[in-house]
Amino acid sequence: MGEVQALAKLDEPEIAQVVALVDAAARADGVGPLSEHSLLALRGGGPGFTVSDGGSVVAYARLDPATDDESASGELVVHPGHRRRGHGRALLRALLREAGGPLRVWAHGDLPAAAKLASSEGLDRVRALFQMRRPAAEPLPPVQIADGVRVRPFEVGRDEQAWLEVNARAFADHPEQGAWTIDDLRGREAEDWFDPEGFFLAERTTVEPGRLVGFHWTKIHPDGLGEVYVVGVDPSAQGLGLGRTLTLTGLHHLRDRGVPQILLYVDESNTSAARLYESLGFTRHAVDVMYGPAPRP
Ligand SMILES: CC(C)(COP(=O)(O)OP(=O)(O)OC[C@H]1O[C@@H](n2cnc3c(N)ncnc32)[C@H](O)[C@@H]1OP(=O)(O)O)[C@@H](O)C(=O)NCCC(=O)NCCS
Repeated sequence: MGEVQALAKLDEPEIAQVVALVDAAARADGVGPLSEHSLLALRGGGPGFTVSDGGSVVAYARLDPATDDESASGELVVHPGHRRRGHGRALLRALLREAGGPLRVWAHGDLPAAAKLASSEGLDRVRALFQMRRPAAEPLPPVQIADGVRVRPFEVGRDEQAWLEVNARAFADHPEQGAWTIDDLRGREAEDWFDPEGFFLAERTTVEPGRLVGFHWTKIHPDGLGEVYVVGVDPSAQGLGLGRTLTLTGLHHLRDRGVPQILLYVDESNTSAARLYESLGFTRHAVDVMYGPAPRP
């Protein structure tokens, strides 16, 4: 096993060596080993764990310590030319020690080596997040809206409370999304990309007129990519085809805005949503897997 160094700060040559090993791993594995967030932290020279061989860094890991809301999380990568020598295991053990409690490890691409290493250190595959994509220009079916429902844009200052309630009900089983508060929503409203014209609400027009029953919030990234940011349908209105109607409404909007591609993230466990997106021409583009302690039943 390689000797792991815990560094409070990486110096410039170390950062350059880690960037080179990250690039080499991305070429060998067909997927980048670090998230955008970790790459930024690395370039800033933040703390990290390294293993060196012949005076150069050949393996790297970093840890985000636990916060009040979330357990610690980490990522690690070994240079393709230095694998199967125990460096990965040594780094994972260092992360587990440093976390001092539950640790989540994100692995990109669902590679067998990561799966084997994680399970051999007692970590379970806790969740997988798929990124799906579709070219915006491919033909789209027309939008058909069920009787008794209309679709309109979100109105800032008026729709927040009703939206939070539908969001909480639609995502009762997905607390990351369902537990959003007014501050979470206002934070998004303050972002540069926020555009109420791309945030669609479905409301009843006959029974309980004005009652919100679903939404599709789209997003256009600074690089021009469109995103199906969140789609939610109130459980009381599920099964009426509203998910499809709302998704299509947003896809038409994004296409009309001229985005080249549309992406979305969907949890592996959310099979009904993944099926809907597949039926609308989305295919799997990338997958991120989280290893960690098994969730409590
Ligand atoms: C996953 C990764 C970190 C493993 O690094 P490594 O230094 O080669 O791993 P180690 O030598 O410490 O191997 C530890 C165990 O992992 C498993 N393993 C590692 N590579 C494997 C492979 N290609 N196939 C199957 N099992 C593998 C084995 O169980 C191995 O134990 P063994 O050598 O006694 O059989 C490396 O492949 C990598 O950088 N992958 C890309 C980034 C990534 O997926 N990171 C997330 C890790 S959870």
